[in-house]
Amino acid sequence: MAILITGGAGFIGSRLACRMVQEGQPVIVLDNFNDYYDPAIKRANIASVQALGGQCIVLEGDIRDEAFVENLFRTNKIERVAHLAAMTNVRFSIEQGRQYSDVNVSGTIGLLDIARRYGVETFILGSTSSVYGNTSQIPFREDDAAIAPLAPYPASKRAAELFASTYHHLFGLNVTALRFFNVYGPHGRPDMMPMRVIDAILNEKPVQLFGGGVLKRDWTYIDDIVDGIVIASARPLGFKIINLGYGSPITLLEFIEIYEDLIGKKAIRVDVAAPTSEPFITYCDNTRARELLGFNPKTSIGEGLQHTWSWYRQRNLG
Ligand SMILES: NC(=O)c1ccc[n+]([C@@H]2O[C@H](COP(=O)([O-])OP(=O)(O)OC[C@H]3O[C@@H](n4cnc5c(N)ncnc54)[C@H](O)[C@@H]3O)[C@@H](O)[C@H]2O)c1
Repeated sequence: MAILITGGAGFIGSRLACRMVQEGQPVIVLDNFNDYYDPAIKRANIASVQALGGQCIVLEGDIRDEAFVENLFRTNKIERVAHLAAMTNVRFSIEQGRQYSDVNVSGTIGLLDIARRYGVETFILGSTSSVYGNTSQIPFREDDAAIAPLAPYPASKRAAELFASTYHHLFGLNVTALRFFNVYGPHGRPDMMPMRVIDAILNEKPVQLFGGGVLKRDWTYIDDIVDGIVIASARPLGFKIINLGYGSPITLLEFIEIYEDLIGKKAIRVDVAAPTSEPFITYCDNTRARELLGFNPKTSIGEGLQHTWSWYRQRNLG
């Protein structure tokens, strides 16, 4: 009885795979190792899972390859799915609506359909806080209609949630859509702010501050996110949307100042206008996650960035 982790070579997927393997759970990773960012990073992520020596099968393939995925379900008993494979990144999606729809919507529908046909117990859908756009309901709560996403990426994730709801309604598939809030930590994505800011400070490159750095983000440490996914994947709940976030946003300026203190060097700050795809704030109301999952995020931003910086230093600076 295995858990299938799609996107398991990526940041969150590979950390989830590590945790599952450590807990003695058989894991199957499905990832196409695309070059949205350097695939060598994804191979290194997988190497860190395999170094643990547990049961982890890694399959290189695309979630949209129906014959491949069908064969995977036919030949393995898959009890749970953590569907994390996606095209990510709000800004990159702006000119790429079709591709985001193809992977994040059509690809997800294909998986939902196969999961219900093969009797999967729990299907976790990796969703995002960016579905809330510039809502006036702050902090963000799951009962917000979330009908005005600011870019194709969040629109595609919201559409995937709606399809998941339909698959629960029609076929009884248990789906928990977890809306992750600004995830960071060791093995973080190179295109996201936490890694880009370290690079910029070390290499004396400018750090762009959207809107003068006043935008706020609710940064959530990777281990806390993995805790939430692990619990949710073992708990069939019908259809639920659940926010997973720390619940304490800070400005981009404050974020950079924490790094400046850790690294011992000032950033070269450049003010730029915030793109219209960027919300003013992300702010998680995690009441539902606490009630339904016992979610209890433990890592403050100061502590989490300290871990991130230590990991980066060890890996890149010897
Ligand atoms: N990192 C965050 O802050 C964050 C926030 C909100 C939501 N999410 C969601 O969490 C999930 C994981 O994000 P991440 O940060 O680990 O991103 P990531 O890019 O590191 O991981 C995604 C993985 O999916 C794989 N993939 C993409 N398209 C595929 C396809 N067609 N077939 C098979 N594999 C494919 C990629 O190769 C990659 O390894 C995504 O669904 C993302 O939308 C992430």
